[in-house]
Amino acid sequence: MRRAVCPGSFDPVTNGHVDIVNRAAGLFDEVVVAVGVNSAKGGLFSLAERLEMLREVFAGVERVRVDSFDGLIVDYCTEQGISAIVKGLRGPADFEYELPMAHMNSRMAPVETVFLPTDPRFGYVSSSLMKVVLANDGDVDGLLPATVVERARERYAARRGGSDA
Ligand code: PNS
Repeated sequence: MRRAVCPGSFDPVTNGHVDIVNRAAGLFDEVVVAVGVNSAKGGLFSLAERLEMLREVFAGVERVRVDSFDGLIVDYCTEQGISAIVKGLRGPADFEYELPMAHMNSRMAPVETVFLPTDPRFGYVSSSLMKVVLANDGDVDGLLPATVVERARERYAARRGGSDA
């Protein structure tokens, strides 16, 4: 069984992430979407909320399951019998950030990092950019799963003191 992990903060999951996970599921027998516990501190959504949204988004998608991990991703890979870490690359900046981690991870454990080019439709999409637009009630049509847009709009409305949350 060839297992891969797509690790991330997923605060929140974007359609760029969804595309990478679905494409990884075409390459591996099983793909675990894993939220880093430390990365989940102090974001827009709690760890539980991120997991809930990911589970909604990937419900019924064969070969994909959702989990969280604490500590090093390579230790999680060893525990779970995972041989590959899949990451999306939007451009050279992502590669510069990811390459040292890939080298470090492969030094620590027999784990390959597999880079997939992000679909150009999502080349400018990041969770942080999406949050700026959502916080200001801007249009994110097609860039985030519907459940994420709904929850984020509720969260920001509540923060602004709106009555619809
Ligand atoms: O979506 P992000 O913020 O790029 O995700 C970051 C994450 C959670 C994938 C990354 O911080 C991570 O893997 N953290 C666990 C600690 C670790 O193993 N770091 C790499 C050491 S080389």
